[in-house]
Amino acid sequence: MNIRIFNSQEDLNEAAADLIGGLVLRNPSAVLGLATGGTPVGIYASLVRRCAAGIVRFRDVTTFNLDEYVGLPKNHPESYFSYMRKHLFDAVDARPERCHLPDGSAADIAAECARYDGLLAQAGRIDLQLLGIGHNGHIGFNEPDHALLSGTHVVELKPSTREANARFFDSPEQVPTHAITMGIGSILKAQSILLVARGADKAEIMQRALYGPITTDCPASLLQTHADLHVYVDTAAGRLLNV
Ligand code: F6R
Repeated sequence: MNIRIFNSQEDLNEAAADLIGGLVLRNPSAVLGLATGGTPVGIYASLVRRCAAGIVRFRDVTTFNLDEYVGLPKNHPESYFSYMRKHLFDAVDARPERCHLPDGSAADIAAECARYDGLLAQAGRIDLQLLGIGHNGHIGFNEPDHALLSGTHVVELKPSTREANARFFDSPEQVPTHAITMGIGSILKAQSILLVARGADKAEIMQRALYGPITTDCPASLLQTHADLHVYVDTAAGRLLNV
């Protein structure tokens, strides 16, 4: 496990963009696993700047997002599809047909999960998976439970997750109750994983995830079993980590 603690948000963003951009430079047709939420916004902004400066190109990159809300139309401003277009896809030279997200508005959600797993299988392997972490230890939207699923599936979001994400909506009731998420098996199959966290409110869960027991009660704790895990945190989120 490679843990790095950064004094500033900018340094964290640049280091994460170095890791992702460096991979794409070495392998222009890399397969990236991408996350949404507040944490990656500055990382995507750095990648956009690098692309505008001609340092990195996304033309041949394939991407898979971790998750999408169920029931939001794709073009809803808070869908993860809209988020990705705004923060990355529309601002770089990525090809839309290579940028995959689960479709939360699909009429047949079970078929949509199977379709997404089919696409992942076709891609072979994710080279680098970017992850944020929920306050309860969720990764993607794999919420704490007595069992976790390997493949893409529907989850009911925990009240605390809906509460945390209410900041993006006009009112808490508007946060969807369910999401489609890539499963833990697909996440752990990635060749490399970059877990990013910022802020004092993530310090305790980061300690539990990295040093606590490996348990489905804290899905991120399964990352301890991964052979190439990189953890980038700011000083506040890394307060309880030993480096
Ligand atoms: C988002 C995702 C979630 C978030 C997590 C942290 O695609 O899969 O696991 O990474 O909820 O969200 P933020 O970054 O908003 O604290």
